[in-house]
Amino acid sequence: MSSVTVRVPAKVNLQLSVGSERHDGYHELATVFQAVGLCDEIIARTPSTPGITLSISGEGEGELPLDEENLAYRAALLLAGHTGAKPDVDLHIHKSIPIAGGMAGGSADAAATLLACDTLWRQATPRDELMALAAELGSDVPFALHGGTAIGTGRGENLTPVLSRGTFHWVFAIAEGGLSTPDVYRECDRLRGGRSVPDPYVSDILMQAAAAGDPVLLGKALHNDLQAAALSLRPALRQVLEVGEDFGALGGIVSGSGPTCAFVARDEEHSLDLAVALTAAGVCRTVRRGQGPVVGARVTG
Ligand code: C5P
Repeated sequence: MSSVTVRVPAKVNLQLSVGSERHDGYHELATVFQAVGLCDEIIARTPSTPGITLSISGEGEGELPLDEENLAYRAALLLAGHTGAKPDVDLHIHKSIPIAGGMAGGSADAAATLLACDTLWRQATPRDELMALAAELGSDVPFALHGGTAIGTGRGENLTPVLSRGTFHWVFAIAEGGLSTPDVYRECDRLRGGRSVPDPYVSDILMQAAAAGDPVLLGKALHNDLQAAALSLRPALRQVLEVGEDFGALGGIVSGSGPTCAFVARDEEHSLDLAVALTAAGVCRTVRRGQGPVVGARVTG
């Protein structure tokens, strides 16, 4: 096999409940992830010379590191170290997921790279080992392999699948420029001002909404504890959320650590209307639509 293609989805957090900071600097979470059909594509090829090379097109082209600073590069190295395979691969990532957008694009690319290299190098690493390697790379990487809808606990890496029916129609308002996840967590702590924080939890209403495939209930149940911090660092996001609300979104939320804002529409037609309205309002760099839940990283060719 000389070439493997993997498609990997972005995520939104339907709920992101953030507890207090742990001794390791991470925050204890209870989150509900949903994988959405805004996907990156990773192509792994057998190289003509030994070693790892990385190239990127699409979102973030020319802005992202192409060496060990890139999580996808580190994923290839980690898998080689774990399996004993030679770390020889030419990786190309075609990105549609915004960078530093709160949709786990970097994590998605790392997850896809694990799967692509595992297939290219014919390692057939057991699923649980791939998931453990994913967790080593970052809190959101296991979910990008998992896909669907799932509760994440710990720092987000311990996953439990959630019963989800039907399809939700999402619209994403993608901002100019990203937000740094550590900065947003720090701002969240600053806004909390040292007050005691309740244990993170998952709302029953959200579980009901997912199980019933009910977008109205889901829209009402969306909640993100990092939203206030993201709005504090990027006040212009308020206007984005207001425009979504004005045009009848069933719910709107900052995705993860932001600055992407995600809106639930009634159906596909409504998602088109909402996308047009957000574009016309000129409140974001670009607008994308996607359905959820979708499967996690998978080999497509
Ligand atoms: O795990 P990952 O490398 O994606 O996390 C990026 C940063 O986000 C961490 O360094 C930390 O500052 C913050 N984070 C956190 N608590 C979590 C997940 C991430 O504080 N549960």
